[in-house]
Amino acid sequence: MQKNLAILGAGKMGRTLAMGLARVHAPFNFFIYNPTQEKARALAHDVQGSVVPLLNQLANIDIVLIACRPQQFSQLALELKPLLKGDELIVSIMAAIPVHTLADKLGVSKIVRMMPNTPNKIGLGVNLFFFSPTVSLPERTSILNSFALFSSVFNLEKEDFLDICTAFTGSGPALIFEWARLMGEILVQRGIAAHDAHKMVNQTFLGAATLLAGQGKSPLELREEVASKGGVTVEALKVFADSGMGQIIDKATQQAYLRGKELEKLL
Ligand SMILES: NC(=O)c1ccc[n+]([C@@H]2O[C@H](COP(=O)([O-])OP(=O)(O)OC[C@H]3O[C@@H](n4cnc5c(N)ncnc54)[C@H](OP(=O)(O)O)[C@@H]3O)[C@@H](O)[C@H]2O)c1
Repeated sequence: MQKNLAILGAGKMGRTLAMGLARVHAPFNFFIYNPTQEKARALAHDVQGSVVPLLNQLANIDIVLIACRPQQFSQLALELKPLLKGDELIVSIMAAIPVHTLADKLGVSKIVRMMPNTPNKIGLGVNLFFFSPTVSLPERTSILNSFALFSSVFNLEKEDFLDICTAFTGSGPALIFEWARLMGEILVQRGIAAHDAHKMVNQTFLGAATLLAGQGKSPLELREEVASKGGVTVEALKVFADSGMGQIIDKATQQAYLRGKELEKLL
């Protein structure tokens, strides 16, 4: 049965998820609200949904997907709370805002926290979920199945796991893009034409990621296939180890987690 799904926030991620769901004909009627109306109109057009020009025109909604930034949520909550009947399922993709704050600010109890990432654009996303206890099993299954139609889904047992994983999967693509950017820049500094340098790096990431995904081998096994004893790769890996590559990843992801806790306190 078709459900009425309101997407509040037609920015980068709201658009990506709505487009993903529409592409696979997930069973939703889309209602799009965004303060800048052109964005709502463009997305509603692309998913064959309806524009909601003003928030107070939302009606008969089953699921509300909140896709604004955490800093924009307090304002949205003030306007949204009086419009909710109380039995809607709220799906928040906002980093950092915990279930109890969402429930308090919206006056509803059925809350789903979701952490998507940008590869959802091409059907290769990672979508993490945490369900509040009041969300029924059929509702959980229906949400997980809808997103699993176009990307991978992970149902986490503890809310803190979602916050821990956010830096790895939600932010993860940015960390990988930064690594690719730096590798490309260094090649250019060493004389390789920019066009070739970036293409080489991108193709290396694509090839390596495809091996990781498809070979049933661990990252360590795949690494060992490249790093033969006494060869050139081991020298580069030694520098990674000596420079504390693991600690850098640990520190960066921990810092992102702590920023989430800070944002939570600002609400
Ligand atoms: N980008 C990612 O890779 C990523 C990954 C995982 C999770 N997320 C989460 O996704 C959320 C959105 O991120 P984003 O990258 O898509 O940001 P974004 O492109 O800035 O989109 C935010 C959208 O929310 C709209 N908005 C602002 N106030 C609103 C309100 N009161 N009601 C409804 N919509 C409102 C904005 O509209 P205007 O332009 O008119 O202000 C904008 O279109 C964030 O909470 C973030 O934590 C993002």
